[in-house]
Amino acid sequence: MQEILMEARDLCAYYTTEMYGISREVKAIDGVTMNLYRNEIYGVAGESSCGKTTLIKVLSGTIKPPLKINHGTMQYHFKKGDMDMVGVSEEDMQSKVRWKEISYVMQGSMSVLNPVRKIVKTFEDIIKTHEGITDKKAFIDRVTEHVKKVGLPPDILNEYPHELSGGMRQRVAIALATVFQPSLIIADEPTTALDVVVQRGVLQLLKEIQAASGNTVLLVTHDMAVHANVADRVGIMYAGRLAEEGTTETIFRNPAHPYTKHLISSLPVIGEKAAKTSLEGTPPNLANAPEGCRFHPRCPYYAKNAAKMERCKTEVPVMKDYGNGHRIACHFCEEGGIV
Ligand SMILES: Nc1ncnc2c1ncn2[C@@H]1O[C@H](COP(=O)(O)OP(=O)(O)OP(=O)(O)O)[C@@H](O)[C@H]1O
Ligand SMILES: [Mg+2]
Repeated sequence: MQEILMEARDLCAYYTTEMYGISREVKAIDGVTMNLYRNEIYGVAGESSCGKTTLIKVLSGTIKPPLKINHGTMQYHFKKGDMDMVGVSEEDMQSKVRWKEISYVMQGSMSVLNPVRKIVKTFEDIIKTHEGITDKKAFIDRVTEHVKKVGLPPDILNEYPHELSGGMRQRVAIALATVFQPSLIIADEPTTALDVVVQRGVLQLLKEIQAASGNTVLLVTHDMAVHANVADRVGIMYAGRLAEEGTTETIFRNPAHPYTKHLISSLPVIGEKAAKTSLEGTPPNLANAPEGCRFHPRCPYYAKNAAKMERCKTEVPVMKDYGNGHRIACHFCEEGGIV
């Protein structure tokens, strides 16, 4: 039985902006229900602007206007007790959650590294703020040990961020994110800016750290190859909603949602010469998303069966479990069509 770390139910988070007196609501997360378990790597996939970064802003409690949680619940079961993260105070986030329970590795680590401070100073700032430093030697020993554990030479502690390669900086970001052994490490496109060889090393490190500590990693990337190699489970997002979720094996070998099928079938296969077909249309504008299933205007199954599948146009499909944690939000699948 897997232990639950986080339960989100019907989460909705919108960006509300106003221009020339006209208010606009971007429904970037619109009805997400999902669990994260302890000791797993959960991959979030989906094309640009589908809401991946917004989902992790919500799950990590880093919500700032114009983004707001409009609906839903999000319950964490941390080591030190349960916490309802919808409406959590900034004070609690600061003292109990950030870095200690949930840490964040972003694309391009410069946002966490101060360009004019040596790496050791960034460690010092974080540890001082969250635990205090009474013994300087013990602090240096602890940090030295920790960076060695993530495969970095301790000399880097005395360097400035710009003196390190992109891959090294991303390792430093991972070292910072793991210093307090948080329950959840969230990584948003952590390797997108790196070349493939360096990328492999950084992903391997994330995997090793996860395996050694048994914590949870939420890995966001549009790169399906990364998910295939690293994730235990994958959630496929389309236009602010989860379309499908399952073990990595199920998602890649037995995708069921028409959008997932398209994503998987468009991956390159060595030796295959036939041209890949692309989907009609573009992802919807989330300020004015289609009614019903947001994918229906581009769905090849709907296009062929529009007359009898009126509900795709009018009714929001909910995620249904088809066994073994394979969840799909699709009216066709529900009617026995394409699972
Ligand atoms: N600060 C903001 N104000 C208004 N709308 C925003 C803001 N940030 C993001 N959005 C909108 O929210 C939607 C989801 O964006 P998000 O950044 O979460 O997508 P993403 O899946 O992470 O994309 P990418 O793969 O390009 O990083 C998009 O339509 C985007 O334009
Ligand atoms: Mg993003």
